[in-house]
Amino acid sequence: MKILIIGSGGREHTIAWKLSKSPRVEKLYCAPGNGGIAEIAECVPIGVMEFDRQIAFAKERGIDLTIVAMDDPLVGGAVDAFEAAGLKAFGPRAEAAILEGSKAFSKDLMKKYRIPTAAYENFTDAKAAAAYVETCKLPVVLKADGLALGKGVLICQTREEAREGVKTIMTDRQFGAAGDCMVIEEFMTGREVSVLAFVDGKTVKVMSSAQDHKRARDGDQGLNTGGMGTFSPSPFYTKEIDEICRRTIYQPTVDAMRAEGRPFKGVLFFGLMLTAEGPKVLEYNARFGDPEAQVVLPRMKNDLLEVCEACMDGTLDRIDLQFEDNAAVCVVLASDGYPVHYEKGFVVEGLDTVKEKEEEGYYVFHAGTKRTGDTVVTSGGRVLGVTAKGATLQEARANAYRATQWVSFANQYMRHDIGKAIDEA
Ligand code: AMP
Ligand code: GLY
Repeated sequence: MKILIIGSGGREHTIAWKLSKSPRVEKLYCAPGNGGIAEIAECVPIGVMEFDRQIAFAKERGIDLTIVAMDDPLVGGAVDAFEAAGLKAFGPRAEAAILEGSKAFSKDLMKKYRIPTAAYENFTDAKAAAAYVETCKLPVVLKADGLALGKGVLICQTREEAREGVKTIMTDRQFGAAGDCMVIEEFMTGREVSVLAFVDGKTVKVMSSAQDHKRARDGDQGLNTGGMGTFSPSPFYTKEIDEICRRTIYQPTVDAMRAEGRPFKGVLFFGLMLTAEGPKVLEYNARFGDPEAQVVLPRMKNDLLEVCEACMDGTLDRIDLQFEDNAAVCVVLASDGYPVHYEKGFVVEGLDTVKEKEEEGYYVFHAGTKRTGDTVVTSGGRVLGVTAKGATLQEARANAYRATQWVSFANQYMRHDIGKAIDEA
């Protein structure tokens, strides 16, 4: 089969790598791809929102399946566009990707179907929101309704911060149209865990759990980023918690979407907080997490293509989803200054050293690189995800940090405490 992947980051490289292991995949394309993806797929210079050009390309090359891996095109209706053109695409349609595209929608859905989440109010009027934060409990969490590159969430400790926050989101519109509507919700405490699941509209098959590290600096300091590293599985996500989540969150969410006439087919990402009152939903995403995919997919035993097909065909109940009984850690190598201001264009060295050790469980997934001739240069904030497996989380972490020393580029930055929480388990 010929497969086209839409996206350009570490997640897309991981998906491409995993698909390249399928005996049924004959050729991979990626739009627009990056310097690492280019080694296993033909990268085509078409933007992720250029649906018409993607469809024309898919028709011209006889693409059998397109995998839409990113939030913007999913929420924007990429899968709908491909289907309307008579082409197969993996991912939720816009009507279902709204679970990620509108936080107000997902909160209302959870309330209606009694899925555990933080108490909240939705606002479309800045004055009403401003009045609400004068009396609400502190700290309080303000969220722009729409997609905001993961930056639209403000945790406000004081009333002054909350007033400022309403202004930032709704009046100054710092996140653009994403802030036309806002969710104000209760602040929760607990451990966070990311659980990804395959969904075919009715059946849900849960993947191995993971934990992200969203802040830029060690000790969870600094600004929120796309994610600075991950580990899988999460030792805090016990069998008992998994059982509760399946019963109160996963299946109820899939059933709710079906009942609303918005069947979800694709990868559903549950961002959970393990609170003293039990697991609650922080957010939904309509796709693989990045860099969660970098630690989950290398541990998955199944052929990814077969699982994707089962999601589209509604036959996921026949798939026996299996993960290796080990652990993986991913450390993101970023450009110093990310997520604000950083220089790029530096040569990356040592990539072959990691690649030669794939059999031993070492991987390097490219997030922000491009190829110029024979060299790979940095082209983004997050540059590489260095992933390593191990028999235990501790071993995987030691391996991943060892492997970070095999690659180098100028202006490199990483967190040194990815997976530190493992020691507290
Ligand atoms: P979200 O994009 O909704 O996952 O929010 C980004 C991050 O903000 C989460 O990973 C949490 O660390 C934090 N967060 C979001 N909602 C809450 C909440 N209700 N209570 C505490 N922290 C939150
Ligand atoms: N790592 C969090 C996300 O992909 O949204």
